[in-house]
Amino acid sequence: FIRLEDLARDGRLRGQRVFIRADFNVPLDSDGRITDDTRIRAALPGIRLCLEHGATVLLSSHLGRPQEGALHAQDSLAPVAARLGELLGTAVALVGDWVGGAFGAAAGSVTMLENCRGNRGEKADDARLAACIASWIDIYVNDAFGTAHRAECTTHALALAAPLACAGPLMAAELDALGRALAAPARPLVAVVGGSKVSTKLAVLEGLAERVDVLVVGGGIANTFLAAQGCAVGTSLHEAGLIDAAARISRRLAARGARLWLPDDVVTADRCAADARITVRASDAIGADEMILDIGPASRVALSGVLAAAGTVVWNGPLGVFELAPFAAGTQALAEAIAASPGYSIAGGGDTLAAIGAFGVGAQIDYISTGGGAFLEFLEGRELPAVAALRARAHPHSRRIA
Ligand code: 3PG
Repeated sequence: FIRLEDLARDGRLRGQRVFIRADFNVPLDSDGRITDDTRIRAALPGIRLCLEHGATVLLSSHLGRPQEGALHAQDSLAPVAARLGELLGTAVALVGDWVGGAFGAAAGSVTMLENCRGNRGEKADDARLAACIASWIDIYVNDAFGTAHRAECTTHALALAAPLACAGPLMAAELDALGRALAAPARPLVAVVGGSKVSTKLAVLEGLAERVDVLVVGGGIANTFLAAQGCAVGTSLHEAGLIDAAARISRRLAARGARLWLPDDVVTADRCAADARITVRASDAIGADEMILDIGPASRVALSGVLAAAGTVVWNGPLGVFELAPFAAGTQALAEAIAASPGYSIAGGGDTLAAIGAFGVGAQIDYISTGGGAFLEFLEGRELPAVAALRARAHPHSRRIA
């Protein structure tokens, strides 16, 4: 795909109306205040690059999942425009009705276009909506890695219809980092997949089983794999209907000569509460009234050894209920071992970012993705629709579709 930096270097941004699709789908509290502006900060390099090279910037994003044609106050990007203005040190105007391009934007300014999911045809990837937007922009930039798994008008059809389409610096950095971790990784490649349910990550586990050297499973996911190995898991969170799928993944790893890592010991309790009475048990000695809530001390040491020897580490999901102090040690040990590992490390996903923040290891992880669902779909080994559209426009003279 074409990169925004290349266009900037060639002087092709000057005087152009540049439409940047960003992912400003940020968490808001009940008063509409932004609780984490990571995604806004992550978009700054692309915006600044355009401004420095004389472009007029038009920013587009979705926020939440509003009904098309019926935006409510809580769906508005107004808080994002305000925060972005603070970060850029310049006013960012917000335009409500923008699809036809009939609004003023001074040369060299930054304008926020209201929630694109309010437009009819956005979700359906409508080509007519795309053609309408394409008619008044010069360059389309996709810098929304977090939304790259969605084929919607501003992530897909518009990339195909715009006069020129390229990847922004965040999109390029994400794809470079993920490609480095999965396409040609330094070996051994260790993937850590935690979290509560196999069902939400089945395709990820299946995709990773085809390429990793070690698959570490944790959390409720590990409980289902323990059950597949014939261990009793007591009252632990697990999915009985996916025991066969877990067994199939285990067999696939074994057939490839890859390893499935499961904890040998675990922390159990009678209930999931901060004041519950905890016990350390061997993984194959769980009582009928006990639930597994973290990996145990011997497993923490063993896992740290696996990560210290890794050439590449990919991490998504916690190993236990780390929000509660008695069950945090496993995820903390994991975070610290990944931080200390000499291998190239990459992490992504909402819970994972929360754990990285809680244990203060962000600076030591080589790349932290801004993607949630997009990160997981990349791990599955699928091409993301927004990336496919950029690749289709890779040739500078590729004809646009509209
Ligand atoms: C995300 O937060 O994962 C992206 O912004 C995509 O949002 P969506 O799941 O509503 O499409």
